[in-house]
Amino acid sequence: MATCYRNIASLVSPAAAVGELIVITDAAMVVENGQVSWLGKDSDAPSCETEVDLMGKTVIPGFVDSHSHLVFGGERSEEFASRMTGEKYQAGGIKSTVAATRNATAADLRSNTAMLVQEFYASGITTFEIKSGYGLDVETEKLSLEIASEFTDEVTFLGAHVVPSGSDPDQYTDLVAGEMLKSIKAKWVDVFCDKGAFSVAQARKVLTAGIAAGLKPRMHANQLSNIGAIALAVELDCASVDHCTFLDDDDIELLRNSNTVATLLPGAEFSTRSIYPQGGKLMKAGVVVALATDCNPGSSFTTSMPFCIAVAVRDMGFSVDQAIWAATKGGAMALRGNRGVLEVGVRADFVVLDAPNHIYLAYRPGVAIISQTFLQGRKVYERR
Ligand code: NIG
Ligand code: FE
Repeated sequence: MATCYRNIASLVSPAAAVGELIVITDAAMVVENGQVSWLGKDSDAPSCETEVDLMGKTVIPGFVDSHSHLVFGGERSEEFASRMTGEKYQAGGIKSTVAATRNATAADLRSNTAMLVQEFYASGITTFEIKSGYGLDVETEKLSLEIASEFTDEVTFLGAHVVPSGSDPDQYTDLVAGEMLKSIKAKWVDVFCDKGAFSVAQARKVLTAGIAAGLKPRMHANQLSNIGAIALAVELDCASVDHCTFLDDDDIELLRNSNTVATLLPGAEFSTRSIYPQGGKLMKAGVVVALATDCNPGSSFTTSMPFCIAVAVRDMGFSVDQAIWAATKGGAMALRGNRGVLEVGVRADFVVLDAPNHIYLAYRPGVAIISQTFLQGRKVYERR
């Protein structure tokens, strides 16, 4: 059955060129069998069995969140509060979530993840990646990935998040690259390669073992310092290197000539009171950039992509169009996929904004303008 969404003030889709959007005003879009089958001017819309009047709202593709850590136990609000009064963020904070995750039941971990996935839909996210990384033992990493795979195909093994308390760093690296990797199922392998986490040599060991086991590589790097991780990410053809807060000109040059997306995580700098990475500078240099929520209980407990867009525009040198491009097509490229656009033949993953144009995503920070979210043409969220 075909449904025609009529009277769309602006229908927005990212162009192939980084940072550019294609906008059709006074538009309509037809959805059939979960796919977009027609889009264009409302005056040219074909007749359909069902018509929905969107009354001058805006339609954009569902956001693609290429970086999240939704499977965890506990919370760290006290740690956040002390950071806001001067404490520094350190990778080691992850260990308190590891303890809470190991103590949680599978049912609790699953229902917490499900609740956060509902928040993703309410924020307009329709494709999302979920990482493990709060188990850090074979059993809990395996369970975390099983739970993640109940919600998404984009499942990432992050056994190398930090070295758990009481473990020797090199022995733990061998465990991750050996027994742990053999016991888990995931699409992606990730390593936190930074001060207080894993060295470049340790990251290389884990990622090359993951690649040999058929997983595809991605990295957390350059969040807290620059220990030379970008060269490794590019050498191994990581789909994405995430954070990129501290980059030098050589790193930018390497990224520019690579297929590795630089994924920026505004929620992390916001919630750790750090300096922001310069997205505008990266895009000007020709680097492909994505925006993601990094939703996790420590450094970025947000599920709101509109919040990330607003911060990227306000503080990271993005234009509004560039930020929306990075949160849709950029995220899709960071997952080496083809989502994040609205074109004939693609999955009908789209969001209705209670706004006359897409600029409102940054212009109305903190206001719930996501009116409806559709996944394969099926409504998964409606604002009450
Ligand atoms: O992406 N950087 C490492 N991992 C997470 C932080 C996780 C935590 O603090 O619990 C991140 O920011
Ligand atoms: Fe992260």
